[in-house]
Amino acid sequence: MGEALKNTSTLLDVQEIRRQFPVLDQQVNNYPLVYFDNAATTQKPYSVIQKLDDYYKGYNSNIHRGIHHLAEKATTAYEDTRKTVAKFINSPEVEQIIFTRGTTEGLNLIASTYGRQELKEGDEIIISTMEHHSNIVPWQMLCNEKGAELKIIPINDAGEIIFEEFIKLLSSKTRIVATCSASNTLGTINPVKKMAQATHDAGAVFVIDGAQAAPHLNIDVQDIDCDFFTFSSHKMYGPTGVGVLYGKRELLEKMPPYQGGGEMIKDVTFNQTTYNDIPYKFEAGTPNIGDVIAFNAAVEFLNHLGKENIAIHEEELLQYAIDAWSQIPGFTPIGTSEKKVSLQSFIVEGIHHFDIGMMLDANGIAVRTGHHCTQPLMDRFGVEGTVRASFALYNTKEEIDSMTSALNKIISLLRK
Ligand code: ALA
Repeated sequence: MGEALKNTSTLLDVQEIRRQFPVLDQQVNNYPLVYFDNAATTQKPYSVIQKLDDYYKGYNSNIHRGIHHLAEKATTAYEDTRKTVAKFINSPEVEQIIFTRGTTEGLNLIASTYGRQELKEGDEIIISTMEHHSNIVPWQMLCNEKGAELKIIPINDAGEIIFEEFIKLLSSKTRIVATCSASNTLGTINPVKKMAQATHDAGAVFVIDGAQAAPHLNIDVQDIDCDFFTFSSHKMYGPTGVGVLYGKRELLEKMPPYQGGGEMIKDVTFNQTTYNDIPYKFEAGTPNIGDVIAFNAAVEFLNHLGKENIAIHEEELLQYAIDAWSQIPGFTPIGTSEKKVSLQSFIVEGIHHFDIGMMLDANGIAVRTGHHCTQPLMDRFGVEGTVRASFALYNTKEEIDSMTSALNKIISLLRK
């Protein structure tokens, strides 16, 4: 590839950005690390690491409970993250932002509270074929408990929801529609605004698993008009163990609490308990204070770079990778939707995905292999697993070149 091709039109200074991620500067198996497992978790910039360090070194304390200096400082920092997150997804009110452990907990929370309260025998929940297990199993558990039915939206060979089939599934029995905004395995970006509208027309609520969308796409929960939106800090350059659940106020207020304990109460007697206002009603126990505080730095990092600039860079990386890898004999992409976030799953004819992953690792290249927690989707494509390369804002075309060379080397070795 010529140098001209490698110049992206991005406004990001990728080399400068890479210097902010200490983990990227290392050798793995005597090769410079190429980190293409960003859909599993992204690396963390100094600003996030520093914020966590500052909290534990300077003002570690419990929140909402103390009147002393450290407790007030920690409470303010924790609540500042809530304000930053509310703006990030355009939540109408800060109180509609609930901190969780991650997307999985957000989805389980909705199923266990809203779902348990609202569903009855014969009701239906609709999800899509491309859902992560965390957006399948909680609904399955709820359906089993209530005698409700789980309906599945089919997808086409490109990995896109077949919208007409979705419309056919909606009925007066539908209570909940839940889908990912972007697929972790295929990269497909779903038409969530259109889906939310159709769901509301049927009188049901619309739940979004936003884990893969949050690091890549602009999110405006009011524009989408979703009822719930969940995502994770660790997939957007923040710490692990922190997630967000956004919900519409009227739903959150009506829902019972998820867990009982400190913080979620107003008054407790041995006879009865009155619950706290939102969001605290859903935040029982001491939360992951330090990581929530550090998450603020991750959101600010993304805000500073700008989602539009990030998207330009990541789309160029994806197109560059697809162009290069399509030349490789036996390369078969899984997930060829027109609208995608920056990841590519693939298989190579005659070679097990796991062998490719192991040999890429021997070349210092980190990818994910397997079913990616989407086993029903693997069944849909008739494969056991795939190799998945997922890109982030700090990746470069040179890194893709390294993976192209490694893939060619591996394939010629394994085909001998
Ligand atoms: N859901 C994460 C992934 O897709 C872990 O890898």
